[in-house]
Amino acid sequence: MSVLLLRDVRVVDPLGEWRGDVAIEDGAFAALGQGFSLPGAQVLEGEGRTLLPGFVDLHAHFRDPGFPEKEDLQTGSWAAAHGGFTAVSLMANTDPPCDSPEVVRYIREKAQALNLVEIYPVGAVTKGLRGEELADLEALAPYVWAYSDDGKGVARADVMAEALRRARALGKPILSHPEFPGVGHPLGEELMVARDLRLAQETGARLHLQHLSSPGSARLLQEARSAGAPVTAEVTPHHLGLSQERFGDYRVNPPLPPTEGVRGELVAALRAGAFAAVATDHAPHTPEDKARGAPGISGIETAFPLLYTTFVREGLLSLPELSRYLAFGPARILGLRKGLVRPGYDGDAVLVEEDEGFVVDEGSFFSKSRNTPVLGMRLWGKIWATIHRGEIVYIKGRLRGRDFDDHRQVVGAG
Ligand code: DOR
Repeated sequence: MSVLLLRDVRVVDPLGEWRGDVAIEDGAFAALGQGFSLPGAQVLEGEGRTLLPGFVDLHAHFRDPGFPEKEDLQTGSWAAAHGGFTAVSLMANTDPPCDSPEVVRYIREKAQALNLVEIYPVGAVTKGLRGEELADLEALAPYVWAYSDDGKGVARADVMAEALRRARALGKPILSHPEFPGVGHPLGEELMVARDLRLAQETGARLHLQHLSSPGSARLLQEARSAGAPVTAEVTPHHLGLSQERFGDYRVNPPLPPTEGVRGELVAALRAGAFAAVATDHAPHTPEDKARGAPGISGIETAFPLLYTTFVREGLLSLPELSRYLAFGPARILGLRKGLVRPGYDGDAVLVEEDEGFVVDEGSFFSKSRNTPVLGMRLWGKIWATIHRGEIVYIKGRLRGRDFDDHRQVVGAG
């Protein structure tokens, strides 16, 4: 039996906060209390640092297979661990795309061999992400938790309707990237949101709306939900935290809120319960691709500090609320027993130094890419350590598999 004892931590989860000791036994939270000594346990002294449930990201791009110059499963997993994430859902716009069992099996096997964080691939809705012919959703089903053509909206209503029917029969959600091109951004988003909400009601399928950026979308969502539609949605840290008014027109899809006022409306929608999850849409690109106009932000490593600095330190969200959006909410959507520090939940945790300020600089990334408008920004809430199922995967700049093999090399015995 392996036991990791986290001694003297300030535990914060959506249910509240307390200070004491946390034992993780065989990968799950076990005893919680004060003044433990467990013979044979490995002990990590928390020294009063804040412990949150490990973060769960519903939306990231690790670019593997296909774009190793931007990211791969190893560097993406390093970046996730550095950002406090212990489970990550990966989008299908790889090359080849995730429209066949071979590609998603490759991702799962490589992620398993890395054994750093949990990786949950998403299958494509349509073949080649072309929006015309459905992928073999049934053949993909054993390897994926959901389907999405993220990067593009599924423009054809008949294709989306059939995808929702077949996903429903398979018991899996469809994740919608809501964007009709050519009609302007908020209208293009709201039109597809309205269509997909209506289709979800019609088919009874589970729908999850990705990276909502328009307050109008949030209103449509809340209406459909009050009418009983089985629908969830996510918002990104950059749409919540950054506006074009303050950060310029940094290229990302959907675009940043144009004004501080619009950004404030999105934050209000979050506080009103519109979004069950904050998802990073980690979208790494090389400087050359960015210069050619590639949309996206490399965001998985700065997600927590950005949100902590912008909202928790400013008194706009409590830390238990932020924890819910980064762990319990997305874990429920993914069907994982994560997001609470309670006996029986997966022993995934992140230790944070709330008062540790730092400037985001080029050297602070484990991702291959640094495309983000937060370079140079001063943030608080530094990730000190990340623990996945009772194993330390990241601590003080060091990664398991790269800098150490086993946390027995970095912590003391009880
Ligand atoms: O900015 C974005 N980048 N938005 C997307 O929807 C796709 C993503 C990417 O894959 O680069």
